[in-house]
Amino acid sequence: MKTYRTLDVDNLTPNLGGEVVSSIDLAHLTRDQIDELRLAFRDRLVLVFRAQRLTRDQHKAFGRLFGDLHPHPAKTNLGLPGDPEIFDIRITSKTRVANGEAWHSDLSCEPLPPIASALYITQTPPSGGGDTLFANMHEAFETLSAPIREWLGGLTAFHDGRKDLKAYGFELRPEQTYPSASHPVVVRHQDTGRRLLFVNEPFTVRINELTAHESEVVLAMLYRHIETSTRIQCRVRWQPNTVVVWDNYAVQHHAVWDYYPESRTGERVTVRATVPPRA
Ligand code: SIN
Repeated sequence: MKTYRTLDVDNLTPNLGGEVVSSIDLAHLTRDQIDELRLAFRDRLVLVFRAQRLTRDQHKAFGRLFGDLHPHPAKTNLGLPGDPEIFDIRITSKTRVANGEAWHSDLSCEPLPPIASALYITQTPPSGGGDTLFANMHEAFETLSAPIREWLGGLTAFHDGRKDLKAYGFELRPEQTYPSASHPVVVRHQDTGRRLLFVNEPFTVRINELTAHESEVVLAMLYRHIETSTRIQCRVRWQPNTVVVWDNYAVQHHAVWDYYPESRTGERVTVRATVPPRA
């Protein structure tokens, strides 16, 4: 347990995540709570808040504590209906591919990938399940061996949103576009300068400086490292009306779809970066 002046945060694991166990209403935060929440967020990278009741505007206002909101390209580029600042999670018995069921960082394909995401889950599967796993990308980088860390530091990777769309069976029409960008494989966190690993399977297509085969092998090694490093991970068990905010650079996440044919519902906002990821 870490106690701030106005917040008590129960660590999910030593390396990642905290549940705010002191009484807090995200719709009506005091100045002190906001300051401390930002501190706790920097310390723990994933924060869990139970028993929240947020309107859509209150959810958006909570996201804006971390920066301006990022409009989702599925709405701005592909014309999906609804508020561009809200990403809907509606998994039902009719869903064919559940959202986020792979280790990833939200929309790393953007030239300015979102720095944070805040997910508000309102309906959980009655029989349980639907947890979200998180993994610490600072630790993922730091637990690689020194020669690999050194070598990765000089590389960049191409991220393409079309790769992610394809996994959901969606192909762009000729007149449509979707974000893509190259980023350093090892990024320095915009606030702390601490290095982190910034490649993920749904969005990263290849390492630019390597041949296709070399890139495939190196990326597979890094993805296996993230998946199998259980010491750098934590797991959030949702209850209805739980909010989780995570650092979208320092953390990757993986939604577990183990509850078919039951349903899980929520909404996510993401926070816009102001500078591109830097090496
Ligand atoms: C996502 O942001 O990828 C969704 C995570 C989740 O549904 O738990």
